[in-house]
Amino acid sequence: MDSLKGQVAIVTGSATGIGYGIAKRLSEEGANIVMVDFDPEMAEQSGSEMAARGTEVEISIGDVSEPQTAQDAVRKAIDKWGKIDILVNNAGIGGINGNIWELDVEELDRVYRTNFRGVFSFCHEVIPHMIERDYGRVVNIASIAGKEGNPRMVPYSATKAAVIGLTKSVGKELAGTGVLVNCVTPAVVQTRILDEFTPEQVQYMVDRIPVGRTGEISEIAALVAWLSSSECSFSTGAVFDISGGRATY
Ligand SMILES: NC(=O)c1ccc[n+]([C@@H]2O[C@H](COP(=O)([O-])OP(=O)(O)OC[C@H]3O[C@@H](n4cnc5c(N)ncnc54)[C@H](O)[C@@H]3O)[C@@H](O)[C@H]2O)c1
Repeated sequence: MDSLKGQVAIVTGSATGIGYGIAKRLSEEGANIVMVDFDPEMAEQSGSEMAARGTEVEISIGDVSEPQTAQDAVRKAIDKWGKIDILVNNAGIGGINGNIWELDVEELDRVYRTNFRGVFSFCHEVIPHMIERDYGRVVNIASIAGKEGNPRMVPYSATKAAVIGLTKSVGKELAGTGVLVNCVTPAVVQTRILDEFTPEQVQYMVDRIPVGRTGEISEIAALVAWLSSSECSFSTGAVFDISGGRATY
């Protein structure tokens, strides 16, 4: 379990949920972690848990939608370790459920700021450091909603589709370098994000998973760990399904 020994990973939204699972898995593979989140208490708690298991962790508190947050995280990584090998853009919110005619444009802006602007800013700040060393792995956490479009979830579905588009574009921009950019599209995983949705909306999403269960955080983390490693070498600008069979393409 040392495929990432000595590597440095920035993981956004890693105080809890899938992000924390990813941070733990990358650290088990030997990576040092910059934990980015806007929840200081939870980040402190999760960061202490990881440090107690021997991981070197830097905590960077901020809202990913503000470019300053990405700048701060990069500075922490470079000051402490002098490099960034891995970026996992995981921070995301679900938004309010409603038909498009029931949602206002401010709600779209709110979801867009975290789910897409945040991914853009972190790529913008981190990738030049990866290009400099001709090595890097970027993994963006999109969603099956971005491929299929969930009704009553336009801001979420559309911003996750945007993350897929960004992944494909940046993957091509960097093709031929040592920096690979991929994304994953999970179906439902039991985390706090589901509290943002109505029970009917969650049921709609669960009912569409052919294997008949929700995904586990550890399953998402395992795929991300591989995409974050040098073993992943011939995939870039790609979309990796992890939806229990829901995806049709
Ligand atoms: N849980 C699911 O069913 C599911 C399915 C598909 C995709 N995803 C995606 O996985 C990612 C993680 O989701 P989760 O289920 O673990 O959610 P979660 O709500 O459990 O955790 C999200 C984490 O991100 C942080 N965060 C949210 N907005 C932030 C911001 N603007 N700045 C900094 N930190 C912020 C939160 O504090 C929290 O620690 C999201 O991008 C989500 O869209 C989740």
